Amino acid sequence: TIVNPTEMLNKAVSEHYALGAFNINNLEWTQAILRAAQAKQAPIMLAASVGAIKYMGGTKVVANLVKNLDEAMGITVPVALHLDHGDFETAMAAIHDGFTSIMYDGSMLDFAENLEKTQKLVPAAHWNDITLEAEIGSIGGEEDGIIGMGEIADVDQTKEMAALGVDLLAAGIGNVHGRYPENWQGLSLDHLKELGNATGHKLPFVLHGGSGVPDDQIKEAIRLGVAKVNVNSEAQWAFHEALRKFILSDEDLKGKNYDPRKLLKPGVDAIQAAIEERIDVFGSANKA
Ligand code: G3H
Ligand code: ZN
Repeated sequence: TIVNPTEMLNKAVSEHYALGAFNINNLEWTQAILRAAQAKQAPIMLAASVGAIKYMGGTKVVANLVKNLDEAMGITVPVALHLDHGDFETAMAAIHDGFTSIMYDGSMLDFAENLEKTQKLVPAAHWNDITLEAEIGSIGGEEDGIIGMGEIADVDQTKEMAALGVDLLAAGIGNVHGRYPENWQGLSLDHLKELGNATGHKLPFVLHGGSGVPDDQIKEAIRLGVAKVNVNSEAQWAFHEALRKFILSDEDLKGKNYDPRKLLKPGVDAIQAAIEERIDVFGSANKA
């Protein structure tokens, strides 16, 4: 069932777990994640990046795909459809076309401009019953062409952003998109704690770059106020590894494995398994 995530988020905060926000790329990705959520009886967020939205044909295509699959698959767990790292234009299109949650990522702008653009989206989102996530500091690494410096979120800027009336805060706390470097120092959990104190623990935080973060750090981040963990790469790694293994095996040569539905199956099943495993770590299983 497609819903606005407010209630899911409130429940996650009060019961100390996090929602997984998993990126979708196509039909198979969406099916695999919905299957995982239903199997785990977990509330979930499906996230679409600007790049993935372009790839799939636009916000309308994505919204219709998700709504139709949700219905056709008989999904009963709550599902939010979220714009991931949106620019202003795509955010407006997502609001118009039926997304239930949007992130505006102005982290590459001056803070004043980020604040100004985010502020404009607050009424646009809320009038349409849509949740709004804002970014302060930045996430390191690269995702779909979005390159971040990995700046730690400034405490005063975090307070200013929170005061706009946004619903979720994506704060840079040493997190990185994609693979973490060998010499990574871990999440700045003390800083996350400080940000929570500074904002009076009123707003849930979002942990971006969820792939490859050790489970104990994720659990500690949730304890300190994270209610949404974003995972993209982990599903891609699982898909890639399983598909490669299958293609390089003799199994691939048996039967009609040139049929894409058969060819992709090992990869798609691996996505589902990876997501189910993350849901367990985030504590959102059986919370639907
Ligand atoms: O916005 C999406 C995420 O932050 C995903 O990051 O690919 O490192 O899991 P990841
Ligand atoms: Zn991200």
